Amino acid sequence: MYAPSILGGDFSRAGEELRAIASSGADYAHFDVMDGSFVPEITFGAKFIEDCRHLSDLIFDVHLMIDNPERHIERFAKAGCDRITVHAEASKHIWRVLAMIKEAGKEAGIAINPGTSVSSIEPVLSFADYVLVMTVNPGYGGQRFITQMIDKIEELDSRRTENGWSYLIGADGGISSRNIKTLYDKGLDLAVMGSSFFAEEDKAAYIKELDAIIDGSVV
Ligand code: DX5
Ligand code: ZN
Repeated sequence: MYAPSILGGDFSRAGEELRAIASSGADYAHFDVMDGSFVPEITFGAKFIEDCRHLSDLIFDVHLMIDNPERHIERFAKAGCDRITVHAEASKHIWRVLAMIKEAGKEAGIAINPGTSVSSIEPVLSFADYVLVMTVNPGYGGQRFITQMIDKIEELDSRRTENGWSYLIGADGGISSRNIKTLYDKGLDLAVMGSSFFAEEDKAAYIKELDAIIDGSVV
């Protein structure tokens, strides 16, 4: 599955970018919310997502790169997100935040920065619907993929199998046709892509190419 990130597109043409994501055959639209504190940049808040909600039937996958996300869960849930992902590093009470997301009727995701280990979030893995491995330092699109993060995908996949857990595994940052197969071979379910997706003129052809690379019919 794929989640193109609107951060890689043009915010002033959000409706067209969402249509491009939908017609490419991707499953999700990924929204990167940045607060200028947890990460240096500021992007947009719940109103942007609410306005986009009227324009698209895609599954809205919202990545909150914000400090103390508990203050904003209710608002983002009301805006029409389908999944809300919060950073393990952003709250002192991460289980409570995941519970708030679930109570709001949304899928609850937990993201980990490159410096955060899988073992540090072990206690919440049975409770999370989704785990997002950051394969760049969050904050900007177009950065270089950090290869050392691949082991985390494998670790999450084995822990899931060993314990009978059901979370989906995502990766975010620097993903393209060059590294996608390795990630899927290690157990990845969902690839977030910003710059590599929006750089393509024919986005549907790109998604088909990625499918073929993952299933091994194209190298
Ligand atoms: C980075 C964001 C990503 C970003 C990925 O902090 O979380 O979702 O859009 O963009 P690329 O694919 O360009 O690394
Ligand atoms: Zn993201």
